[in-house]
Amino acid sequence: MTDALAALYPAHLATLRTRTETALARSGHDHLLVPAGVAHYQFLDDRPYPFAVNPHFKAWLPVTNAPGSWLVYTPGRKPKLVFLQPHDYWHVVPQAPAGYWVEHFDVAIIRRPEEARAHFPADAARCAILGEANAAVDGYAPNNPQAVLDHLHYHRAYKTPYELEMMRRASAVGARAHRAAERAFRAGESEYGIHMAYLHAAAQTDNELPYANIIGLNAHGAVLHYTDFERTLPAQALSFLIDAGGSFCGYASDITRTHAAAQAGEFQALIDAVDAAQRGFCARVRAGQDYAALHLHAHHVLAGVLREHGFIRASAESAVASGVSAAFFPHGLGHGIGLQVHEVAGFQKSETGGAIPKPEGHPYLRLTRTLAPGMVVTIEPGIYFIPMLLDELKAKPAGRDVEWAKVDAFRKYGGIRIEDDVVCTDGEPENLTRDAFAAA
Ligand code: GLY
Ligand code: MN
Ligand code: MN
Repeated sequence: MTDALAALYPAHLATLRTRTETALARSGHDHLLVPAGVAHYQFLDDRPYPFAVNPHFKAWLPVTNAPGSWLVYTPGRKPKLVFLQPHDYWHVVPQAPAGYWVEHFDVAIIRRPEEARAHFPADAARCAILGEANAAVDGYAPNNPQAVLDHLHYHRAYKTPYELEMMRRASAVGARAHRAAERAFRAGESEYGIHMAYLHAAAQTDNELPYANIIGLNAHGAVLHYTDFERTLPAQALSFLIDAGGSFCGYASDITRTHAAAQAGEFQALIDAVDAAQRGFCARVRAGQDYAALHLHAHHVLAGVLREHGFIRASAESAVASGVSAAFFPHGLGHGIGLQVHEVAGFQKSETGGAIPKPEGHPYLRLTRTLAPGMVVTIEPGIYFIPMLLDELKAKPAGRDVEWAKVDAFRKYGGIRIEDDVVCTDGEPENLTRDAFAAA
């Protein structure tokens, strides 16, 4: 299992070194310092929030639980890991570094956070330090130079073969757990029960998952970020929307499926139509594709689905122009994914910064870049019956194009979203999610 990662890791590290060298040259610094981060505490309490490692740290090495540790890189030298292993009998101390990546670092073990200082370059002013303010150690405060962030964030969109392997494994976790969740739904479990079945199959706790599970029965599917986990079962469970991922060494998968209780019913027919549309969008994840244009294309296709299924009378073109499609599909088609579920730099114009604006009227789109090999993006179209948006639509002239009786009959199902994580390659896209389901 780890053999493939061991073989891929040196080239990944070489890529990070090259990116960092350019980034430091741009900002005029000599060294990169990256704190893993430190615990955040609840107000007036001694309880820490779950630790979330600095993404710039986990980009270098597959370690996500190392508060107080630092990465130090000076171009031309072996990277250094300053690893905090406190003498502490209250908590489990992070394990000593082990694995395929360790030989690529000079490792210095420290016992107290302030000891890190002795392992830093002498002149703090020559260091680009990427991290949160509270990670500062004795004069080495994060300065987050914009030129360094711009370069690293822009290029992070292009995954190395090592990172793609990490994401295949994160996808395998998610696919396995989605299967268990569907079984729990069909066995009559509540949202809470389905969630527990998911965690068990993923073998990950809530805090280890890449984001909070969205598990909604019936109309809860219409709440885009529904995270309430009702303990009681509705009188009749008609539909089930689950948006849940898995983690692997700090990399994320982000997967949504929608299931109908009645497998040959009207809601399943609409799921099938969204699924067919979604596969078509996935097929367009190709080098040179403008992602914002793909989002607009998705609006036209989904408006066609709404018309074919009798929800609207207008043509697809006029439904998009009048905002009718946006009432049923009110979020972006997707986003970059990797070290973060919503990967950074979705709008960045070039490696030196700038922004590619969102198309007017599409405020929730998170990605406007042009796709290129190595990018991993989600493709997550949806059709929802959201009371607030339907009320607004009804009050507008365009509301006259809507077949309200048909729409009202579907409110009880909530909505549909289907989400895959897709790699842009030199040729055919690689669908991490569907491949993982096929293998599960
Ligand atoms: N799970 C959050 C999203 O799909 O973007
Ligand atoms: Mn999702
Ligand atoms: Mn997503």
